Amino acid sequence: MSIFERLALAGYTLKSDIVSVPLKLFGRGVRREIVRAAGPEPAVIVDLLTGTGSAALLYARRFPEARIVAVDRDPRILSFVSRRVEADTGKRIEILAADARDLMLPAGAADLVNISYGLHELKKLDRSLVLGEACRLLKPGGQLLVADYGEAGGIGRRFAMRFYFYFSEPRWVKELFRGGLERQVADAGFEIVTVRRDLPMTQLIEARKSDEPACAGAPHLRLI
Ligand SMILES: C[S@@+](CC[C@H](N)C(=O)[O-])C[C@H]1O[C@@H](n2cnc3c(N)ncnc32)[C@H](O)[C@@H]1O
Repeated sequence: MSIFERLALAGYTLKSDIVSVPLKLFGRGVRREIVRAAGPEPAVIVDLLTGTGSAALLYARRFPEARIVAVDRDPRILSFVSRRVEADTGKRIEILAADARDLMLPAGAADLVNISYGLHELKKLDRSLVLGEACRLLKPGGQLLVADYGEAGGIGRRFAMRFYFYFSEPRWVKELFRGGLERQVADAGFEIVTVRRDLPMTQLIEARKSDEPACAGAPHLRLI
């Protein structure tokens, strides 16, 4: 890798990992809670919008036998992710540089799809399309774990988060709050199992693809 590629990757990693800064400061253990919600022994795990692969790494540690596919549209970050996971766990994961709104992965192949701290970066239609793909990829009964920003409790913390969002996140991040993300997950064809709002800065949605799935993608498009 040339010095320019290294610099580009460092900049990209920093930007992509920026979500981790407040989480690292205030949300110790949140990621472990997310991975703990997975279960019991998923054979095929797909991590969509994997970014720097923090979730893929924890899944590789917890489920060494599982086949793990990390998906991101940026191939540079993906080679970093595969090296990171292999260096930490000795496990080789599969990486796919692709648009998570329209994947060339077979339907019904995954036991677990993870999407952590990525959906808030996408506009509503794109979020729906990614959730629709998650639904298509899962086996009937398969598990979806979505973790993303949640609203903090208490005026002080809420104000601090709004301040942080104002400068660092897209303006539509607030669409995820007050049940917005949960409704979008349900609209994509999932049954909501639990929603945890007790984790720092985070809402964690566990959902299942129903046995008679109707993966919706972007239901509001049907109106057009
Ligand atoms: C904030 S990062 C994800 C954070 C990561 N999942 C975590 O747990 O820390 C968002 C990632 O989504 C990727 N991304 C955005 N839109 C995408 C799309 N349509 N298809 C695939 N990847 C996408 C970006 O390249 C970026 O790496």
